[in-house]
This record gives sequence, C-alpha cells and structure tokens, in this order.
Amino acid sequence: MTAVNPLLPQKVTLQEIVAETPEIKTLRLASEKGIPFDFIPGQCAMISLPPVGEALFSITSSPGCREYLEFSIKKVGAVTRALHELEPGQQLGLRGPYGNGFPLEALRGKDLLFIGGGIGLAPLRSLINYCLERRGDFGGIDILYGARTPEDLIRREEIMERWPAAPDTRVYLTVDAPYPGWEGHVAFVPAYLSELAFSPENRIAITCGPPAMIKFVLKALEELNFAPEQVITTLEMRMKCGVGKCGRCNIGSLYVCRDGPVFTLAQLRQLPPEY
Ligand SMILES: Cc1cc2nc3c(=O)[nH]c(=O)nc-3n(C[C@H](O)[C@H](O)[C@H](O)COP(=O)(O)OP(=O)(O)OC[C@H]3O[C@@H](n4cnc5c(N)ncnc54)[C@H](O)[C@@H]3O)c2cc1C
Ligand code: FES
Repeated sequence: MTAVNPLLPQKVTLQEIVAETPEIKTLRLASEKGIPFDFIPGQCAMISLPPVGEALFSITSSPGCREYLEFSIKKVGAVTRALHELEPGQQLGLRGPYGNGFPLEALRGKDLLFIGGGIGLAPLRSLINYCLERRGDFGGIDILYGARTPEDLIRREEIMERWPAAPDTRVYLTVDAPYPGWEGHVAFVPAYLSELAFSPENRIAITCGPPAMIKFVLKALEELNFAPEQVITTLEMRMKCGVGKCGRCNIGSLYVCRDGPVFTLAQLRQLPPEY
C-alpha cells in the first residue's frame, strides 16, 4: 500500500454500525480501496465529522482485515454523541495511523495475558485477533475481560464463542456485581486477576481499561511477581494533533500520541507522575 500523509484526513464511508451496549457502538469504516492505510495493533486514528469536530480512537479491527477499519466508540461528549447518531452511507474524515502500537516482536513466543475493562477491550481486540491469525507465533493466550454489568460487555460473539474455541486460548469474564441471569464470575477485574494467580514465567501481561482498574491491575501483577518489563499498558490523554506537534499530550519529554500510547510499566516508571 502506498504511504499516506497521516495529517490529511481521507474520505471514508460508514459501512455498518453495531450497537454493542447502551453506551458503545462499533463503526465499520472503509475508503474506496478498503482500509485507507496500514497499521499495527495498538495504533489509533482521528475520526472527523464536520462541523462537530474530531476525536481519537483505537483501531479495534485486526490489520489482517483489509476491507474496513473498525472503531468501538463510547458516547461521552459532543463528537462521540454525534458519531452514535450516524447512519450507514455517511461520509467521514479519517487521519492516521497514530502512535507506536504494541511491541509485536517482543510478544513473539511468549504466553500472553490480556486484561481488559469496558471499552478498554478495543485496542486489545486488534492484538488478540492479530495473534489468533498467527497462532503458531505465540504461546498460550489468556483473556480476562470485565465490565460493570453483562450488558456492558462488548464483542459478545468473539468473547463468548470465537475466542474460547481458538487453540490454547482461555477467556475469563467477570462483572462488577450480581446481575439477573448472569451465572458467570462476579468480581472487579483486579480481584479476579489475583484469584487466577497467573505465573509470570515466559508471560507478558497487556492491559487496557479505565485508570482505576489499571492502577489496581498493575498492583496485582506486581504481587504476582511480574517484572515491570513484562507489563504493557496504554495511556489515555486528551489529544489534539495526534503527531507530537501541539504539545497537548506530553508527559516529561514524551508525547503520548507519538511515543505511546503503548508503554511498558518499566517505561512508565521513568516518567514524571503527570498521567
Ligand atoms: C490513545 C487513545 C485511544 C482512544 N481510544 C478510544 C476508543 O477506542 N474508544 C473510545 O470510545 N474512546 C477512545 N478514546 C477516548 C476518545 O478520544 C474520547 O472519548 C473522545 O475524544 C471524546 O470526544 P467527545 O467530543 O465525544 O467528548 P468531549 O466533549 O471532548 O469530552 C467528554 C468527556 O470525556 C472526557 N474525555 C474526552 N477525551 C478524553 C481522553 N482522551 N481521556 C480522558 N478523558 C477524556 C472529557 O474530559 C469529558 O469529561 C481514546 C483516547 C486516546 C487518547
Ligand atoms: S496530541 Fe498534539 S502533541 Fe500529542
């Protein structure tokens, strides 16, 4: 695919919109050539909807999907509310890809432990499907995913059917509190993580979710003796340009949009506590 200027929005069409939960919809976007640019799991793109504005989202589809890009979007403000109201056929602008993405080479041959909460499954899903498409390149895959209620779990078909059926792959679901009809696990994600007590041997943990969850997940992983180099997380800051120019997202000398959003815990510990 020819290189694209990541600062210029490309025209894309909304092909399909899937209501995942009352607050989250997944948008499927494509340009005339299919996916408008190449990317790696963990990278993001800026969706623009004139005249409302633009906002940054993780690409949640796998790079193996060449027909369209998917974004799971939580309704929180003006842009995301407007994106939730769209109908298929609508034209949008899309610029990217932005950010460093997950360190794919460092994951090769390792057992992988994914820990997600709520909309935090979005970037993890891209990486999980990437790994499942290259199953022989990675060790065992364990996926711990939680949400407030069963209604808030996204990508149900994948998390409940497709992923648990993949070779050497296990999915652990949990919700915060008992819920009518839910017979699965009930616990906060960090508590369930401690209970499952994964060994750190030859394993990398990759986590994404709300800041409160991340804080306690990092603590739980430390108690399970994961070294800071074995823990990967993503940071979510307010962003504007997406390319390290406007200074909106800096932490010390780093720009989260350009040098992140993916960091190991070892890297985060080198940064000033501004996130
Ligand atoms: C690297 C990265 C990846 C992201 N991936 C996704 C994704 O896959 N799906 C998704 O739904 N959202 C994602 N976001 C968040 C998304 O960019 C914001 O929700 C969006 O910009 C909100 O736009 P808005 O105009 O609807 O809301 P606004 O009116 O701008 O804000 C509404 C509320 O959300 C808060 N908010 C807005 N943006 C952020 C932010 N970046 N961090 C913390 N709080 C914020 C505001 O403080 C305010 O309280 C990501 C953000 C980053 C930085
Ligand atoms: S968003 Fe502009 S420098 Fe990161």
